[in-house]
Amino acid sequence: MNRRLTLAVLALVAFAACARQPESADPIVRGRRDFEGLGCVKCHKLGDRGNEWGPNLTLVGFRKSPAWLEQWLKNPHAWNVKTIMPNFDLTKGQREDLVAFLSSQKGQAWSVYPWRTPQAEALSPVARGQLIFNEAGCVACHGQNGVGGYPNNNVAGGLIPSLTLVSDGYSKDELHAKIQNGSTPLPDDPSQPRPLIYMPKWGDQLKPDEIDALVAYLFSLHPKPAAGAANSDF
Ligand code: HEC
Ligand code: HEC
Repeated sequence: MNRRLTLAVLALVAFAACARQPESADPIVRGRRDFEGLGCVKCHKLGDRGNEWGPNLTLVGFRKSPAWLEQWLKNPHAWNVKTIMPNFDLTKGQREDLVAFLSSQKGQAWSVYPWRTPQAEALSPVARGQLIFNEAGCVACHGQNGVGGYPNNNVAGGLIPSLTLVSDGYSKDELHAKIQNGSTPLPDDPSQPRPLIYMPKWGDQLKPDEIDALVAYLFSLHPKPAAGAANSDF
């Protein structure tokens, strides 16, 4: 290459470097940019924006650990074969930034929590409980209407529990305490890594009357005995 051409190329490279957006030093800022750029809100809500094909992510940093988020983003199908969430083939750096951004989401994207609007507060406890179940993200671990089926690692049966029969085993007070305090599953095989998904301590996010609404909703999920089977054993 002659000298003039070399200089011209160098000048161009320098120009391109200046014209590029400066890369933020903050992984949360970079993660937010990827979240927008990759179109995650086509399926997820964050605050009042987005769609509801997947769980609302406004509290995702409260309910899920960075270690789990990293596993999920690496390949959603490796965790849950049935998921419709695509594998975005993210680079390690992109995953680190997205994990930082998602972990920072602890409710601040809502100006008002959706179950604290005057309309929501006027609902019956069961209906308000259902709203909390869906928007706070109980649904992300316990499934639609609490039917269960979502995988966890190294737990007996391999799944997060279904909630449709909790009224058989818990009084209302016991259920309230369970939701308030959360719970960490015991590893099925102590020689293997601990379960990555735990039951969050909801008392840190929800007020007592909101937990009571959840209890009313969970009690309403119990299947009704078939007509004429009132004396059967179940
Ligand atoms: C085509 C729809 C779709 C797109 C696009 C999508 N997701 Fe998802 N995502 C889902 C669904 C559905 C679930 C629920 C879990 C399941 O199906 O097993 C989910 C679950 C999640 C979870 C776990 C949610 C929780 O509350 O625990 C996270 C985190 C997540 N997605 C992040 C992302 C990010 C980040 C992007 C963009 C890079 C994205 N998703 C794009 C559909 C989608
Ligand atoms: C991040 C995942 C996750 C979220 C979100 C979550 N749970 Fe759980 N939940 C679990 C896991 C895991 C267990 C099992 C805990 C154990 O084995 O100690 C559990 C257990 C429970 C139990 C006890 C079930 C039983 O059979 O004893 C109840 C009740 C419950 N969750 C209710 C809720 C409610 C209500 C919400 C929303 C406010 C919620 N969970 C949100 C993961 C989650």
